Amino acid sequence: AVAAGAGWGATFLKVYQDRRRSNVGKLSFRNAVRIPALLDPEPSADGRRHYRLTLAPGSSDLLPGRRTPTWGANGSYLAPTLRARRGDRVSVDVRNRLPEDTTLHWHGMLLPAVMDGGPHQMIEAGGTWNPYWTVSQPAATLWYHPHPHGATAAHVYRGVAGMIILDDEHSARASLPSEYGVDDVPVVIQDKNFHDDGSLDFTEVKLAESVAGADNLGVLGDTILVNGTYDPYFEVTTRRVRLRLLNGSNARVYWLGLTNGRTFHLVATDTGLLARPRAMERLLLAPGERAEIVVEFRPGDDVVLRSFEPALDLGFPTERFMGGDDTFDILALRAARTLRDSPPLPTRVDGAPGPVEAPAGATVRSFDFTGLQINGRTMDMNRIDQVVPAGATEIWEIERGDEWVHVFHVHGATFQVLDVNGQEPPEFVRGPKDTVYLYEFGTTRLAVRFDDHVDEERPYMYHCHVLRHEDEGMMGQFTVVEPGRVDRAPRTVAAGG
Ligand code: C2O
Ligand code: CU
Repeated sequence: AVAAGAGWGATFLKVYQDRRRSNVGKLSFRNAVRIPALLDPEPSADGRRHYRLTLAPGSSDLLPGRRTPTWGANGSYLAPTLRARRGDRVSVDVRNRLPEDTTLHWHGMLLPAVMDGGPHQMIEAGGTWNPYWTVSQPAATLWYHPHPHGATAAHVYRGVAGMIILDDEHSARASLPSEYGVDDVPVVIQDKNFHDDGSLDFTEVKLAESVAGADNLGVLGDTILVNGTYDPYFEVTTRRVRLRLLNGSNARVYWLGLTNGRTFHLVATDTGLLARPRAMERLLLAPGERAEIVVEFRPGDDVVLRSFEPALDLGFPTERFMGGDDTFDILALRAARTLRDSPPLPTRVDGAPGPVEAPAGATVRSFDFTGLQINGRTMDMNRIDQVVPAGATEIWEIERGDEWVHVFHVHGATFQVLDVNGQEPPEFVRGPKDTVYLYEFGTTRLAVRFDDHVDEERPYMYHCHVLRHEDEGMMGQFTVVEPGRVDRAPRTVAAGG
């Protein structure tokens, strides 16, 4: 496959070198980064915590002196952070006041498929949806966003996305910064393009249409927003700060580090805490991925969280990632002259989830992510592509057969990256995950542990998290069934499923 790709390699490289972008030196970090409101309701008489989200269009001041028509939940852009604890019974009242039908998906949450908010749980314009479930998974940083088939990219780009913070008894006891917005800070990173009048520019990046069919990456923005703030800074008041990084971009991959060259500690990946914080200088964050890092400050420090041009020292020499070869300043971190003390960084986090391990003889499934298809097929809302026994841990081998960008995400499961092209995976993915960047012409092997909410007729999704690819049909569906029912379970989605 590598030889066949050599021809397009040159065209591909040229097209994107021609559009290489940077904002370095152009920002002055003038705006205090916005901190999304926190929703953490007390349980009601019925014992459930009720969250209310109203999706509606609005107008936002994203750029100085300009108004941008946007969408949001409980506000004109983005959405509140939802907080819950393991064991909580939660319920969400979602009102859709948007001009279009949509859905709201809880990315990373383990819950019944009918509550998942995927493309089958449409909420009509003007309608409501009331999912409820019991939080039954470890502490983690998750997020939520629309997932209507064919329109996810546009709905997320307009601004509907929010963070979810799950706590548990171990995270509460861990020696980690945990004061929301003070030393425990949501950092939702998104890239946008704007027209001169301030409105969002939806122009898509299409590359090398002459080779191997048109690839549509969707929007790749030259303006970076953090929590909907342009040109942002965060005022550091403590010696250590935990940043909950979420790549909420449609397609852009970030290669994140600090401008003073200092290391930071990775303390959690997508679906949970690491047993031991890991020191590193850079981490890759693909669309949909989360990483919690703890950064240490000295009084008066002035550093910038930046997406660097990759040194491509990931051990995968042909690798380059679309949009990740651009250089962008993301967020200035300015430390006050006196800093409050912080808890010491733990050397180990008791109770952090251990690695997902597949039993000997585990089922192996192979997926080829090439072009805009998975295993040569385009998403069919009626077709169930895989049937998985409840609670199983399987080996999923994901092969990326082209030079475009693909990012694997699976619903209703948590996974461990076992290896990439037979090598140890990069340090920043060695933790509990639900989303992972796929390396060029590489095979990424995962041990995937599925949840045990059985439903033979309503599927979960797995797909590319480059949202335009997902919209184009780079998605498949699986059901989770009683182990004895795998061979007899339906292969089509029930009407109204
Ligand atoms: Cu973040 Cu299937 O989605
Ligand atoms: Cu893709």
